[in-house]
Amino acid sequence: MKGFPEDFLWGGAVAANQVEGAWNINGKGVSTSDMQLNGIHGAVTQRDTDVECIKDIAIDFYHQYPEDIKLFAEMGFKVLRTSIAWSRIYPNGDEAEPCEAGLAFYEQLFAEMAKYNIQPLITLSHYEMPYGLVKKLGGWINRETIDHFEKYAVTVFNRYKNQVKYWLTFNEINMSLHSPFTGVGLEGNPDEQQIYQAIHHQLVASARAVKACHDIIPDASIGNMLLGALRYPMTCHPKDMLEMQKKNREWLFFGDVQVRGDYPAWIQRYFSENNIHLDITESDYADLMNTVDFVSFSYYMSGCSTWEPEKYEGSRGNIIRLIPNPHLKASEWGWQIDPEGLRYLLNDLYDRYQKPLFIVENGFGARDVVEEDGSIHDDYRIDYLRQHLIQVKEAIKDGVQLLGYTSWGPIDLVSAGTAQMEKRYGFIHVDRDDQGNGTLIRRRKDSFYWYKKVISSNGEYL
Ligand code: BG6
Repeated sequence: MKGFPEDFLWGGAVAANQVEGAWNINGKGVSTSDMQLNGIHGAVTQRDTDVECIKDIAIDFYHQYPEDIKLFAEMGFKVLRTSIAWSRIYPNGDEAEPCEAGLAFYEQLFAEMAKYNIQPLITLSHYEMPYGLVKKLGGWINRETIDHFEKYAVTVFNRYKNQVKYWLTFNEINMSLHSPFTGVGLEGNPDEQQIYQAIHHQLVASARAVKACHDIIPDASIGNMLLGALRYPMTCHPKDMLEMQKKNREWLFFGDVQVRGDYPAWIQRYFSENNIHLDITESDYADLMNTVDFVSFSYYMSGCSTWEPEKYEGSRGNIIRLIPNPHLKASEWGWQIDPEGLRYLLNDLYDRYQKPLFIVENGFGARDVVEEDGSIHDDYRIDYLRQHLIQVKEAIKDGVQLLGYTSWGPIDLVSAGTAQMEKRYGFIHVDRDDQGNGTLIRRRKDSFYWYKKVISSNGEYL
């Protein structure tokens, strides 16, 4: 392979709760994301009343999507990744019948994409679930949540079987270890036993969704989604090497179960030495054998691991704390920029899983300046993406089978970590600030024209 394959899926990725707004419109129930007013890192707030949150309107994609999709089409997108808000379909998670208005909304959204031959790549659950299931069942700690999720998955597979051929189960499924409310709907301060039990249920639910997808839409592909938390050893000390392996395995564990259909041996040892006893039934083991068709992941940064953490100051990753690498520069939010790490990770994941890969998030969060004439010169963003795509191309030449690349936030959106608008990822600028002021007007940035050329040249021009 000399470069990007002919059928490479170029595009962008967003998530329902970061773009749609309309948080309580047309029957939608309260989701766990609606309760995180200040993002994943903030406190959880009850939302039975009308407390204001930037996500309530977000970028108003719910109403403005035709215009936004037209702009994506202008850049030449082949694919758009977004998610379905589960609480639009089953507002509390356990209703007997789905909400027709919610189903109709996504049907129209996918029809709009089809007008421009943009394939939808749909995440079933992107950092949200109906809060009703948290209140009634305690979230994923309860086995019943698996059945509710399966019912939701079956509902959307049946409804969109002619419209959607690429699916993902849970966004960054490994992040539940670090933010259990966001990932598995656990309130308070759950212990490791509870977190891993909830994760187990979610892994079973993911496998059941894979099976349902294969049964209902035989010509579709369904993948998992991992937060690519690549670690290097801080030094070449053998103990750092072992620590690096341990940290990488913490997140690769999820992929191991989803791709191989079973728990790896090393985690059994970890469970028994840490007094973690999971309730895993015979039928759970059978369900887990329904493995994914491809492996997708997000990649923003890398970090280091060491057996002597007290020697180094921790840096700010988004969800996972990483020790800074002295050879790398960081963004304003402390995310270390490492394009070569992406080539390494692509090779490593492909060696490990031998499944097609899909990069479903990668991007640069930065503040932008709108010039008087309305132009936005975001050469820093172009540079970040270019450097990463150069390494993606190298990985393809190394022999990695890669289905596509969807950069994160092709249009400015609300950040998941901190619920900010000013941490912008887009090729398209949205006029809205952290306080919620602004006209919501869309503007093309310099990166818009750059990415358009990248796509039209199929990655020859970078
Ligand atoms: C990923 C998430 O972790 O990172 C996205 O899947 C998120 O939802 C993205 O937006 C970037 O993080 P942030 O905090 O800058 O929005």
